[in-house]
Amino acid sequence: MSSDPSARPATTLADDSQDSNGALNDQPEESTLATLSHFSPEKEAAATAVLSVQGEGAGMTAFQLTKLHKEYTRSWDLFYKRNTTNFFKDRHWTEREFPELRAEGGEPCSKHLLELGCGVGNFIFPLLDSNPELYIYGCDLSTRAVDFVKANAMYTEERCKAFVCDITTDKLTDTVPAASLDLVSALFVLSAIPPEHMSLAVENIRTVLKPGGKVLVRDYGLYDAAQLRFKASSKMADRFYARHDGTFSYFFSTESVAALFAEGFELVSNAYVVKDVVNRKRALNMERVFVQSTFRKI
Ligand SMILES: C[S@@+](CC[C@H](N)C(=O)[O-])C[C@H]1O[C@@H](n2cnc3c(N)ncnc32)[C@H](O)[C@@H]1O
Repeated sequence: MSSDPSARPATTLADDSQDSNGALNDQPEESTLATLSHFSPEKEAAATAVLSVQGEGAGMTAFQLTKLHKEYTRSWDLFYKRNTTNFFKDRHWTEREFPELRAEGGEPCSKHLLELGCGVGNFIFPLLDSNPELYIYGCDLSTRAVDFVKANAMYTEERCKAFVCDITTDKLTDTVPAASLDLVSALFVLSAIPPEHMSLAVENIRTVLKPGGKVLVRDYGLYDAAQLRFKASSKMADRFYARHDGTFSYFFSTESVAALFAEGFELVSNAYVVKDVVNRKRALNMERVFVQSTFRKI
């Protein structure tokens, strides 16, 4: 996701406004093809053949891997230094995809939500506008991203609170009261975390959710066009890659998301959302795959 001019030729993917190389979105058209519980054997075979070119293990040296891990936080901060607020599109689709986010006629700020890895607020601000019932916390490990959220004209501490937090190392309860949240949203953030640290993030989420509170996940899915385009030299581990700018991307199967939330949560829904993205300007047609899942804290 870099704007590094030496990156490979840019191709635009939709929905999360990014591709594996860092191209800005230039208005592709997209349509949902299907919501799937499993891939067809044909899709599995075609995707596996493409992925086999990436090889079995990591395609980089131990030195490169250590450096990438060490610079993880800095890479995201530099991402926001370069792109400021111009990279991700506002998430206007969230209420359509997650009914839990829709206003139900309750009191202002009567529901509390935390957006993990909130970036510059593309999820927070459209939702604050459309649902007065919500009080929204947003956290991100990038100080620059959090500063952009706080600088937004819609930011008001009566409705929201943005704070810096690495959800794999810092306790969310330092800012958010324990067991106080109705909802936690995780949009394209778990995939940014090294797989071995994801369960630390999930345990952290559990501490701030009320019993019965829900986690809403949307993230990159297995065999997504972005995964199939990575070269072996970008592969850090199975289904886990580094982009040119040093940020990471994991591609989830529905089983791997469910396994993360297997303890202390019950499954509400879990599926692949497959979209056809057409970019006429660049004569490109791509199949984007996302996982979309909801879990309830027991
Ligand atoms: C792909 S962006 C998604 C931003 C936002 N959720 C959205 O959908 O527009 C991933 C975000 O997660 C943040 N992030 C990555 N690892 C994190 C961690 N361990 N703790 C908190 N935030 C993290 C990054 O800084 C980045 O802002």
